[in-house]
Amino acid sequence: MPNILVVGSQWGDEGKGKIVDFLSNDATVVVRYQGGANAGHTLVISGKKYVLHLIPSGILNKKICVLGQGMVVDYNEFIKEISELSKLGISTTPENVILDENAHLILPYHLIIDAITGKEIGTTGRGIGPAYIDKIARKGIRAKDVGSMGLEEKINKNVGYRNHQINFYLTDEITRRETIRTLCRKNPFLEQFIDDNCYIDAKKVYNDLMEKKQLFSLFIRDAKPILIEAASRCSLLAEGAQGIHLDIDNGSYPYVTSSNTGIGGALNGLGIYVDFDYRIGIAKAYTTRVGEGPFPTELNNPLGEELRQKGGEFGATTGRPRRCGWLDLEVLKKSILASGINYIAMTKIDVLSSLNSIPVCVGYNKSEGASEQPCYEYQNGWNQDISNAKTFDELPTNCQKYVKKIEELLKTKIGIVSVGADRDKTIVIKELN
Ligand code: IMP
Repeated sequence: MPNILVVGSQWGDEGKGKIVDFLSNDATVVVRYQGGANAGHTLVISGKKYVLHLIPSGILNKKICVLGQGMVVDYNEFIKEISELSKLGISTTPENVILDENAHLILPYHLIIDAITGKEIGTTGRGIGPAYIDKIARKGIRAKDVGSMGLEEKINKNVGYRNHQINFYLTDEITRRETIRTLCRKNPFLEQFIDDNCYIDAKKVYNDLMEKKQLFSLFIRDAKPILIEAASRCSLLAEGAQGIHLDIDNGSYPYVTSSNTGIGGALNGLGIYVDFDYRIGIAKAYTTRVGEGPFPTELNNPLGEELRQKGGEFGATTGRPRRCGWLDLEVLKKSILASGINYIAMTKIDVLSSLNSIPVCVGYNKSEGASEQPCYEYQNGWNQDISNAKTFDELPTNCQKYVKKIEELLKTKIGIVSVGADRDKTIVIKELN
């Protein structure tokens, strides 16, 4: 197998988890390189549904799975995920799950601050932004810091700063108490970290980490030698979370996540250089977005609702309804440039099956003073169930034409087409070799 990078080429939720699970059969190591439990990969294997937030999707294929140094890992979520996978009979031991020692930890105060400050962006509330802020400010707590000298002091300082921030955002006592109580009602887990005055209690945060450290510290080590070995044997599969349009530098700033979701994030988040043979962009056959921010081809009408229902477009992490719209080739072109995508896996094309005509955005109209309007080209629909097709030739002619047209306009090979959620509903047009 070649070394492969998988990135989301829209605003996340493109179906990376399914494709990584499919491709991981031939990999020895699957690594995630950025983000945290804001991601939610839904996998369906033989009709059984799995949702993963932190651990790479390769775990179901019994691969060595690495949480790379670029990730921000909520240790409580990590403990929960490995124990749930074990209950399902999926092995999660320090031999096959490795948490890189340089990865930063998400502590409960990051979740509290995210809940208070993340509304404008519509964050997932998983503490991602606040944890990356600490990392960049050089105040973060890395996996390898757990149990080290001075940790309690560091947590004390971080919590002190966060309590100042609470005062900045919730300026009077009544607002503070009400907001913190509401937040704890929504997420009762957080209540144990709040003191009587509705501030974050540093001692409780520290004690929780110390009590639980034996449940995850065995998984922590330097993952780089494992990644180097896999890359040298051409069997490394790197998995991104979110999509390139949520990238902190390449996305629709400020409506983005707090990490680099594309190839830049991959190289830094792995900590080793890999000349990926395939840089696979996952593209849904239409477009979705959760949270705030621009979305030129959004459908605020019954057709959008139809796509949402047919595609099951509800967030795997937050359950929020996803905003739905037509495929936007300008979005994909930007991602191709930003991450050097040389192969596309198109997902959920089956969701378009009942349409007579399918609009595809091929550019924008930029008239002076007005906002940009998408320009559409219309492709003929196929109006028949395609979910049992096993080869490209078995797809209806108009469906084949849809794929070929997009390939031609993007000048990038569409090598995989996915026609359903299950692992076996994947059509390979071009083998990865
Ligand atoms: P955060 O990553 O939780 O800070 O959220 C920042 C933005 O990224 C928000 O608009 C979220 O809805 C979006 N986002 C984060 N993770 C995902 C994901 O896995 N899929 C889709 N959108 C996401």
